[in-house]
Amino acid sequence: MNQEEPQRNLALDLVRVTEAAALASSRWLGKGDNKKGDMAAVDAMRLSFNAIEIKGVVVIGEGEKDKAPMLYNGESLGTGNGPGMDVAVDPVEGTKLLAYGRPNAISVVALAPRGTMYDPGPAFYMQKIAVPSQAREHVDINAPVQDNLKAIASALGKSVDDLVVFVLDKPRHKQLIEDIRQAGARIQLHTDGDVAGALMAVSPDGDVDVMMGTGGTPEGVLTAAAIISMGGEMQCRLDPQSEQEKENLLSAGYDLKRVLTVRDLIQSEDVFFAATGISGGTFLQGVSFTGQGALTRSMVMRGKTGTLRRIESLHSFEKLMRISAIKYK
Ligand code: FBP
Repeated sequence: MNQEEPQRNLALDLVRVTEAAALASSRWLGKGDNKKGDMAAVDAMRLSFNAIEIKGVVVIGEGEKDKAPMLYNGESLGTGNGPGMDVAVDPVEGTKLLAYGRPNAISVVALAPRGTMYDPGPAFYMQKIAVPSQAREHVDINAPVQDNLKAIASALGKSVDDLVVFVLDKPRHKQLIEDIRQAGARIQLHTDGDVAGALMAVSPDGDVDVMMGTGGTPEGVLTAAAIISMGGEMQCRLDPQSEQEKENLLSAGYDLKRVLTVRDLIQSEDVFFAATGISGGTFLQGVSFTGQGALTRSMVMRGKTGTLRRIESLHSFEKLMRISAIKYK
């Protein structure tokens, strides 16, 4: 038998990073400014990363396209001691959800051993289908929507009209939405936030059965870290949304027909994932302020063991402000 001593669960350190980002950005809930909330989260996340014992390199960051000053692709993170890790961050996943006070804005971070995360390069968008573990062998991103829904329903022991499909409410999904309705399944339309959508789909107790449609490629890699831990499957295929994106991908040698599974997006089981709710919603409750501090709710996962922890933390601002450079109020 291959037995190991209990090892450090870096996700328990990571949750402090997503909590800090959620606390800082939640002050911008509903204020109509999607830049300020994101900046507050980035600052808090960057500071909190300094305490983590890793030699981290950002692989999925705020992106070169924004010329982000922090958490940019290639930036070193952590103390510089400890294991070499690829880092994926989304300080606010759903910046518009936060800016307009809509549900399911979350702060998300994942770690995987150095060199194991898919590098999206110039890929901004990918098509995705995410399903719970019972349906993992029964989906095919290349098959018609109706066929997938029938196969998923039968794997889940349901009929197609029992299914709820999470879809981003975007003009590019007009045909997809028609096809789902035609098949008889029900739909939850969300303006943003397909990481939460995919995780609701793979969760056995979520109110969504499937996530379908095209969203961000970086979000796909972050989601893969969680699915490796939680079970379920997601198939993806690059889906450029402009001629320029397509040209960039082809000249960089990306194969637009290749079907990517979660294991292609992260080639290791040794992954760590943390997410904290910012705006609230059915996926994760958001930050609530108590007067003296705040409550945060997070989920924390480790791929190797498959343990999923839900963590509720009470933060005392008076004490935190004595020791931290982060402005909590
Ligand atoms: P941001 O937080 O970067 O705004 O991303 C939100 C999001 O809805 C993602 O969940 C999704 O993958 C992506 O944007 C879809 O992109 P677009 O809004 O350009 O269609």
